[in-house]
Amino acid sequence: ERKYKYIHVRTVGKGSNVGYIELDRPSALNALCDPLMLEVSNALDDFESDDSIGCVILTGSNKAFSAGADIKQMAPVAKYADIYKAKFLSQWDKIASFRKPLIAAVNGYANVMAGGCEIAMMCDIIYAGDTAKFGQPEIKIGIIPGAGGTQRLPRAVGKSKAMEMVLTGDPITADEAKQYGLVADVFSAKDLLPKVIEKAEKIAANSHLVTSMCKEATNKAFEMTLAEGLHFEKRMFHSTFATDDRLEGMMAFIEKRKPNYSNE
Ligand code: CAA
Repeated sequence: ERKYKYIHVRTVGKGSNVGYIELDRPSALNALCDPLMLEVSNALDDFESDDSIGCVILTGSNKAFSAGADIKQMAPVAKYADIYKAKFLSQWDKIASFRKPLIAAVNGYANVMAGGCEIAMMCDIIYAGDTAKFGQPEIKIGIIPGAGGTQRLPRAVGKSKAMEMVLTGDPITADEAKQYGLVADVFSAKDLLPKVIEKAEKIAANSHLVTSMCKEATNKAFEMTLAEGLHFEKRMFHSTFATDDRLEGMMAFIEKRKPNYSNE
């Protein structure tokens, strides 16, 4: 059992097969200092290697999902060379390279700002409470987004809206985020977590092996040409026939019963 200072980690869902990571650094609106990000990374490693876990939810508090990188940690850094040598922010890539389905649940009035928005975009699905706000306000403090804000945001909302957000620093509402395709759905603040847990349980009821393959193939849509992506998908689809779970899923359908996956 690891001890955490800035996050709470547990399992949720009827089968305890959904991992749950809650950011809890209220004094700084869940600003993503290095120790907090190390804790998130460790929790993800544990859920990745736990065969019983089929989906993970990353969430924050009602006030903030996260207000981004820790400005107080960054402010005193004197030199470019220090930031470069430390590969500053590259440890955040752990979230993007996590292999199981990862859902960002953005609570009630939460601010999803800067690096907070960027880690939400590293997740596979974002669900938001109806009063959440999303923004990339880095420009207001003399920097540009450094963890995907200039790359994943335009892919999510299109060039014009992304440019408006990164150049003005102005946030958008949860409803706008849904309209532009940044979030999959918006729920009332009180319904959000139960709804997200329900979705996560639905995902975790599938073969954990095959959901990882499905995630890997879908992510290629953002990395490859259509021809390369379709080729990758076809090979990955063929490879599902090498799994026990493919046969179990099809037989369960034919026998009109629930599949019992071994994740092999
Ligand atoms: N880093 C460190 N501390 C932060 C913080 C951050 N990113 N965001 C908020 N805090 C701290 C505040 O300093 C304040 O601390 P004190 O009580 O000690 O003064 C506390 O959290 C509460 O914040 P506010 O009083 O500002 O709360 P608010 O409700 O009035 O405003 C907010 C909320 C709009 C999110 C505002 O806090 C804000 O604008 N935060 C900064 C957002 C930002 O610019 N982030 C950029 C980070 S850079 C980055 O992330 C780079 C990248 O791309 C990876």
